[in-house]
Amino acid sequence: MTTIPDAKVPTDNATVPAPAAQLTDAQRDHIEALLARMTWEQKLAQAQVAFKMTQQDCLEAARAGIGALFWPGNATDTNAIQRAAVEETELGIPLLIGLDVIHGQRTIFPTPLAMGASFSTAVAHDCAATSAAEARSGGVTWTFSPMVDVARDPRWGRVAEGFGEDPLLTAELGAAMVAGYQHERLDELGAMVATAKHFIGYGAAEGGRDYNTVDMSDQRLHSVYLPPFAACVDAGVGSVMASFNTFNGRPVHANRRLLTGVLKEELGFAGAIVGDASGVDNLIPHGVAADLADAARMSLAAGLDVEMGGHLHDPVARPDSPALLDGDDPALVARVDDAVRRVLTLKMALGLFEHPYVDPDAEITTPTAEHLAAARNAAEKCPVLLTNDGTLPIAPTTRRILLAGPAATHTDHLGAWVQHFAAPPVHCLADALTTALGERAAAAGTPAPELTVLGGQDPLDVTEAEAAAVAAAAADADLVILALDEPSQLTGEATSRADLHLPGNQAALVHAVAATGTPLAVVLVAGRPLVVEEWIEEPSAVLVAWHLGTTAPEVIADILTGAVNPSGRLPMAFPRHSGQLPATYDAHENTGRPATRGGEMTKPAFDMGLDGPANLQEFFTSKYRDLELGPRFRFGHGLSYTSFTYRDAALSRATITLAELDAGAAVEVTATVSNTGARDGEDVVLLFTHDLLASLAPAVRRLAGFQRIAVPTGGSQEVTFRLDRSRLALWDDDGQGWRVEPGDFEIRLGTDPDAVPLLLTVTA
Ligand code: NOJ
Repeated sequence: MTTIPDAKVPTDNATVPAPAAQLTDAQRDHIEALLARMTWEQKLAQAQVAFKMTQQDCLEAARAGIGALFWPGNATDTNAIQRAAVEETELGIPLLIGLDVIHGQRTIFPTPLAMGASFSTAVAHDCAATSAAEARSGGVTWTFSPMVDVARDPRWGRVAEGFGEDPLLTAELGAAMVAGYQHERLDELGAMVATAKHFIGYGAAEGGRDYNTVDMSDQRLHSVYLPPFAACVDAGVGSVMASFNTFNGRPVHANRRLLTGVLKEELGFAGAIVGDASGVDNLIPHGVAADLADAARMSLAAGLDVEMGGHLHDPVARPDSPALLDGDDPALVARVDDAVRRVLTLKMALGLFEHPYVDPDAEITTPTAEHLAAARNAAEKCPVLLTNDGTLPIAPTTRRILLAGPAATHTDHLGAWVQHFAAPPVHCLADALTTALGERAAAAGTPAPELTVLGGQDPLDVTEAEAAAVAAAAADADLVILALDEPSQLTGEATSRADLHLPGNQAALVHAVAATGTPLAVVLVAGRPLVVEEWIEEPSAVLVAWHLGTTAPEVIADILTGAVNPSGRLPMAFPRHSGQLPATYDAHENTGRPATRGGEMTKPAFDMGLDGPANLQEFFTSKYRDLELGPRFRFGHGLSYTSFTYRDAALSRATITLAELDAGAAVEVTATVSNTGARDGEDVVLLFTHDLLASLAPAVRRLAGFQRIAVPTGGSQEVTFRLDRSRLALWDDDGQGWRVEPGDFEIRLGTDPDAVPLLLTVTA
């Protein structure tokens, strides 16, 4: 596995050959020859991936011709079921072996949301490449990752599995993961098929409640939710997973317009669409299918290629019995042929017909030093420093440190979606911090500070007595570090939360320590943006550590001591209150009545009826009267131990014509980033556009580019962004699709809303 710098990741507009384009003519002929020999039942059996609980079940299913199975747990068992498929069936078709390898197999990287905070395609790529090397060594050939659902409501627990609220960030990191999993060719050593999921709109579940209804305009679908899938398709992704939700009333698993019309025809996806777990039989409780046969027929007709769950045709349960579906409808037969062709294409591209087995002696079962280094390098870029008055990093002169809170002594840092065999951190934060402080003191030739640890509290139930004990110890300390916790089990699938406060009265710990007057730094180990309003003003510093994976404790300790300078930026806003969701930076078009301030509960001093229109700016604006405007911490927010300034921002040209944009021309935005602080650091430079006048209400801000750069103290670096048609176009449902409209665009670098923008004029 090689670590590659951001700029080299082939994501932005780069096209990697899709699996179908990797086949030779002989391989294509082989597929057609197989199809010609297959019975209807054999075809249906290929078009599904089944969960089998025991090795015996897997063997039987393989012998009966099933197309794909979930990974049985190791290389030897995988070879055995692969052998059953290849050597004990009439057709000898190897199996696809699927698994949710989401942010690591053995070596666990930060959760995808945390990787979003890195704003680094290299981090996403390295995570995928490492995962693929480990998983494929054990025989896994198909991962159900990346999740590229744009997610704007942190009540939805699955925000941990995606890259946050922005379409461009999600698209770039998702495509980088596809490249990392699939390599240039799927038959390369350590490559596996990636799955972009969940198609589509799943992140927009109403109320942030998992599996819930989605109702969405075409304009929002194309502007926000589709671009990440389009980017993955361009990156050659081999499969796409359908989502559980309904979309404008019709479940996606039975939605021909979306699966065939949008995904296969509009985006040109030539791989296999896999259903989500039992997503086909879920059409029955959805109330659109009368029974399983009905559900299967609807899904296949809609464009689904692989049913997940093994309900379509269980070759073990019904080896000789009639298939669930009749094979007498020519349209259905053609559709199933197409589905099986797509499945066989993936198997062929993976090289499974030539090399179905893996070498059990080469199976990677524990993290290698190289993989741990890659995971640690990634994790260092993800934590976000929300606030800091200079308390962090811990000053070398600090003598007595108290480390307390639930995350001080546990190792629950892996986050959502890891398997039981994933490698947990070797140490807890208390151990890692002891080591880091000791090493720092030894290097300086000074005595190590005294570290007192008061961990072990239940994150779901911190008692007043525990808070009092921490406060008593805090009174004797020079600095308190509180490691607070949203446990992994509260994040991920089926973990929607209505209340986004820290669970279990952990705020009591903050209040109790703050009352002692001892400086306090909070480390927030969490899977999603939380509501921190009730305590955020009390600590001197707050670091969001997310779930950073196997190397989390060491990375957090390094940031606390200053060995690593924090450089993550929020990929998703921290709201003030769950009642204001979505609190996305650009989710909304400007209203006709944009607010300049909120949070006023007093009765206005005018007559509503008579004076109203004259008071537009003051009162009749879009806001909550019981809440300040905007989220608590915006998308892109994140501090550093150093400071960066931007100067000489300029456009390569102030005007460009539509014809030039259509011909592929672009405007370059350049600026010089200087590190004006006392430490080396990495900055994430964000580029935003704002279309000032358009035929559709334009987004308030739209991310048009991001770059992570390392700048040594006192140094400067020039950054260049390319603004092409794709960054300036809007999507209209008037039949024209994406188009650029003439007019002025404000171009801003960085998140400061008061920074003076550059002006770009697009002319007709
Ligand atoms: C359900 C989840 O929605 C999906 O993301 C996952 O890949 C499948 N289960 C398979 O485990």
